[in-house]
Amino acid sequence: MAHIWTTIVTVALMLPVVYCQKIQEVFHWKRITHQKDFNADTRDIFFEELNPTSLNNETFASYVNVPMGVTHHKGRLFITVPRRFPGVPSTLNVIDIATIPEGEMSPPLKAYPDYIVNQLHSDYHPDQKRFISIYRSKVDRCDRLWFVDTGMLEYPGNATQVQRPQVWIIDLLRDRKVRSFPIPETIVWTGEGMASLVVDVDTENCDKAFAYIPDLVQAAIYVYSFEANRMWAFRHSSFQQNPQRANFHVAGLRFVWDDGIFSITLGRRDPLTKARPVYYHPMVSTSEFTTSSLTLQNESLASTENYGQFFQLLGDRGPNSQSTLHHYDEETGVIFYAEVNRNAIGCWNSKNNFTAEDHDTILLDHADLIYPGDLNADADGVIWVLANNLPTWLYSRYDENRYNFHVWRIVPKEAIIGTKCHN
Ligand SMILES: *[C@@H]1O[C@H](CO)[C@@H](O)[C@H](O)[C@H]1NC(C)=O
Ligand SMILES: *[C@@H]1O[C@H](CO)[C@@H](O)[C@H](O)[C@H]1NC(C)=O
Ligand SMILES: *[C@@H]1O[C@H](CO)[C@@H](O)[C@H](O)[C@H]1NC(C)=O
Ligand SMILES: *[C@@H]1O[C@H](CO)[C@@H](O)[C@H](O)[C@H]1NC(C)=O
Repeated sequence: MAHIWTTIVTVALMLPVVYCQKIQEVFHWKRITHQKDFNADTRDIFFEELNPTSLNNETFASYVNVPMGVTHHKGRLFITVPRRFPGVPSTLNVIDIATIPEGEMSPPLKAYPDYIVNQLHSDYHPDQKRFISIYRSKVDRCDRLWFVDTGMLEYPGNATQVQRPQVWIIDLLRDRKVRSFPIPETIVWTGEGMASLVVDVDTENCDKAFAYIPDLVQAAIYVYSFEANRMWAFRHSSFQQNPQRANFHVAGLRFVWDDGIFSITLGRRDPLTKARPVYYHPMVSTSEFTTSSLTLQNESLASTENYGQFFQLLGDRGPNSQSTLHHYDEETGVIFYAEVNRNAIGCWNSKNNFTAEDHDTILLDHADLIYPGDLNADADGVIWVLANNLPTWLYSRYDENRYNFHVWRIVPKEAIIGTKCHN
């Protein structure tokens, strides 16, 4: 009998990462590890020059490496780790799925493009060729990775804006930088509020691309035109938090947050006007708002500061539906949103009205979906979610005997079957 059992186990272990389910946990970690052995070679990973006057003890500290974002592109997962404590060797990382041994669910990270670009200088002097701290990224249909490097070390008691925040665009087919754009001081002083972005690319021309960047601290949307290499800003009351939705209860912890506009997603393009509906929400809110991509793209409108009527309330999802990131799926017309107060992924079909009754849940998991902090889609429309139990890290302590970080993969058109979002 033992013989048969062994055979079954072997077969199970031999399955590589096989995507056969509509909703699937792909990876999970108790703690983050790296391909590089830092204990063997600490000095040259963190600092180019060994400097005894280093301001912080920047040796690899696994416990403070909390993954925040996941993006998938052609077999590679890009995992971001913002620098909120000393001890993060790289803020942008990659997992090449094809290289992972069969059955491995907790693969080590590797810095992307390499450890040098992710390295801090020992005196923290600015270096716009390096990454400081990145929250989340996106891929566009032109095989480019986009993100904002906040330029800020959010070390407790000593947050430091090392350098200007920058928009980065990387060609993933050649692993080459396309461009970086330092965000001017006239737009915003610090980078701390730029935790996500969305990219709006013309269907024919990759140069006609815009990034819409929410700033959750300043309650602003910054629009970056790739073609013009310019940036402008919108500010509106709907970008602000709703203090009546500020109470969170996650993983047994109660806390009050004040994050403003957090996520933007884009609806289907109108073939005639080329306009796309823009859906956005503050995290401390349960309301969803809309505007048009043509409004955001209009720099002269932004300069008039007389655009309030173009930003409108869509509706309210109902109590406890506070959401980090959300994504509109082109194929189904459904918006999927990560719900931090419920450990869930919600859905809403854009054909429907927007009341609490029009929403449904595709996934709810009180163990493996605590604080779903990122949710976005790859070129095939497959949705990737990262949950990191962030409140436990901030206000309590991770149990490193348990899986604290989880990457999920969701096939939208199958995941909505049997819900109100399917029609
Ligand atoms: C720096 O960190 C290492 C590893 O965590 C620790 O052993 C060492 O005592 C720390 N040094 C200082 C000066 O804090
Ligand atoms: C905070 O960090 C900056 C450099 O990043 C350093 O100049 C300063 O001395 C630090 N302050 C404290 C209190 O550690
Ligand atoms: C941009 O906004 C201005 C108002 O400031 C308006 O006159 C103009 O028509 C708009 N442009 C487009 C392309 O919508
Ligand atoms: C939306 O609400 C209106 C008014 O309550 C109702 O007449 C209409 O049928 C609803 N539409 C859908 C798609 O449910």
